[in-house]
Amino acid sequence: MSSLTNKRVLLGITGGIAAYKSAELVRALKTAGAEVRVVMTSAAREFITPLTLQALSGNPVHHSLLDPEAEAGMGHIELARWADLMIIAPASADFIARLAAGMGNDLLTTLCLASNAPLALAPAMNQAMWRDTATQQNIQQLLSRSEKKPLIWGPAAGEQACGDVGPGRMLEPLELARLAAEQFASGALAGKTLLITAGPTREAIDPVRYISNHSSGKMGYALAEAARDAGARVILVSGPVNLPCPRAVERISVSSADEMLAAVQARINDCQIMIGAAAVADYKVASVAGQKIKKSADEMILTLIKNPDIIATVAALPNKPFVVGFAAETNDVENYARDKLKRKNLDMIVANDVSRSDIGFNSDDNAVTLFWAEQQQALPLASKHQVARGIIAAIATRLQEKP
Ligand code: C5P
Repeated sequence: MSSLTNKRVLLGITGGIAAYKSAELVRALKTAGAEVRVVMTSAAREFITPLTLQALSGNPVHHSLLDPEAEAGMGHIELARWADLMIIAPASADFIARLAAGMGNDLLTTLCLASNAPLALAPAMNQAMWRDTATQQNIQQLLSRSEKKPLIWGPAAGEQACGDVGPGRMLEPLELARLAAEQFASGALAGKTLLITAGPTREAIDPVRYISNHSSGKMGYALAEAARDAGARVILVSGPVNLPCPRAVERISVSSADEMLAAVQARINDCQIMIGAAAVADYKVASVAGQKIKKSADEMILTLIKNPDIIATVAALPNKPFVVGFAAETNDVENYARDKLKRKNLDMIVANDVSRSDIGFNSDDNAVTLFWAEQQQALPLASKHQVARGIIAAIATRLQEKP
């Protein structure tokens, strides 16, 4: 069963060429089990007919605030209360401006004012219109709200209907339906205990020096929050990072890979899921000096030996949990990720292309592809929090499929 089953989704369609894709979105939401009602602005009706959306949603399409017949059926306040989630797709620059200004000059803006349901916008417009200062200020204004802050889904970058290339494409209908499902995925991990390793490890050279890496821990911490929000009990085994412990998460702070392994082994028997998001140092110093090494010779050689592979150790347990690893690759991402999935006996692997400059270790954003068995799922560029929710939703779905 999908998390959208019996959920009531109000889909607002505004005027833009991407409106033709809204028909497919209605189908995707319906297929996932949602009840869908469609509200169109006047401009949207220039792009796609209400009849198409009525046929696909199985409900009359709402258009006017001042239509006595429609108001006698389901009035605008009733409609605003009916929705569990409102999605505006496509959301035009004009609609976003009216929303930011708090206007209620048509049915759709009025519903946004009247409804307490979470609101998601899927912007779609020409790239210059998206980049325009007014549009960006309107988006920032909406995101700075303390209450009723909308979710902004997209836009994606790429080729546009007008021939331009850049940001402003509406996210694909299936991606929007997946994001909608994520909104209701909370509770998907209720009753489960999940252990996450996060951050770097530090391998001592002597009492004052160490070998480490640039991992910020942001992805692992975002996963801990997303898993907690999905109802799991979360144990976070963390290397040294500059992040506060997330609310309602149990953190065990460690330094070296050996300490991380010991902490994981002490707790793994309680866990049904393990995610290895830590950037564990591959090697440690063969013999750590007991005292600070003096600067004397012109050259010094450190002998390094392999660290234990924490995730592979867990995946080799007879009673192993569902194990999810990460693969940071610079090329041939799928091949290396699938190889790691098999070699380490993992159930799922999260691969990211670290050759890209816009994502990675210290960034707030990420884009990943999940691989398991013969399947894969891409989670496009988004904040690490959004990507984390997508990963947790995918894990929950896999667990439901696989007892
Ligand atoms: O082999 P590689 O380091 O690329 O594998 C990455 C995955 O394995 C990550 O999930 C990481 O947390 C985990 N790992 C581990 N222990 C190690 C090395 C990697 O748990 N010693």
